[in-house]
Amino acid sequence: MDAASAPEPFSTVIRTASHAQHTEAEGSTFMSALLGGELGVAAYRRDTEQLWFVYRALEEAAARLAGDPVAGPFIRPELARTAPLERDLAFLGGPDWRTDLQPLPATAAYAARVAECARQWPAGYVAHHYTRYLGDLAGGQIIRGTAEKTWGFARKGDGVRFYVFDGIDNPAAFKREYRALLDALPVDDLEKQRVIDECKQAFALNTAVFRELGEVFGTDGPGRLSA
Ligand code: HEM
Repeated sequence: MDAASAPEPFSTVIRTASHAQHTEAEGSTFMSALLGGELGVAAYRRDTEQLWFVYRALEEAAARLAGDPVAGPFIRPELARTAPLERDLAFLGGPDWRTDLQPLPATAAYAARVAECARQWPAGYVAHHYTRYLGDLAGGQIIRGTAEKTWGFARKGDGVRFYVFDGIDNPAAFKREYRALLDALPVDDLEKQRVIDECKQAFALNTAVFRELGEVFGTDGPGRLSA
């Protein structure tokens, strides 16, 4: 590094480093078909079910990690998504939505990795936390608007509550604070590199879920398996 130039903030480094993976996740054929209005609400429900497994893994660990010096500052109750997801799923699937609910294999692998990081590696947990929650606060708002239009959900109502952060009045300010926490992550450069690698892995795990959803709904793979 040139001695005169300040190091790039970690929030910038991680965003830049994961840009290609973001483009890939965003451009997955399942997501494109879903947001292009080509799929029915069953596909949206199935996607929402997968999110529930992932957020349970993220949030079951939250109370235990709250006091952790690395992951603790990121744990904010206003981010918690399990309860809104459960309201959306009750709306989309009826009161028995939980009965027989199984994650897709890619979802199970994703949730297991989040749980493993939560147990053993708080900085790795931060990589997963960033990949999901900052994404929900940013691109999630585009997905909400499209879902409302495509399947006729009430604005910010049942079906899209996952994308509505009632406890965050100023998302731009919240994201700024979140990036400041990333910039202050109390780990060395080697560990930061491992966090970036885990973030790329987190995006890949999301892409794998989209691929399996695409196989179920006929946008990926040899053909429609089942709905
Ligand atoms: C159709 C799907 C998606 C759309 C339309 C979308 C769109 C966006 C947009 C517009 C931003 C804001 C970029 C900026 O402020 O510079 C963003 C940021 C972000 N997205 Fe996505 N996204 C999608 C899918 C995803 C997925 C699947 C993930 C990962 C699970 C993700 C994770 C993120 C993250 C972590 C950020 C924050 C980047 C940062 O500022 O550090 N996005 N997305």
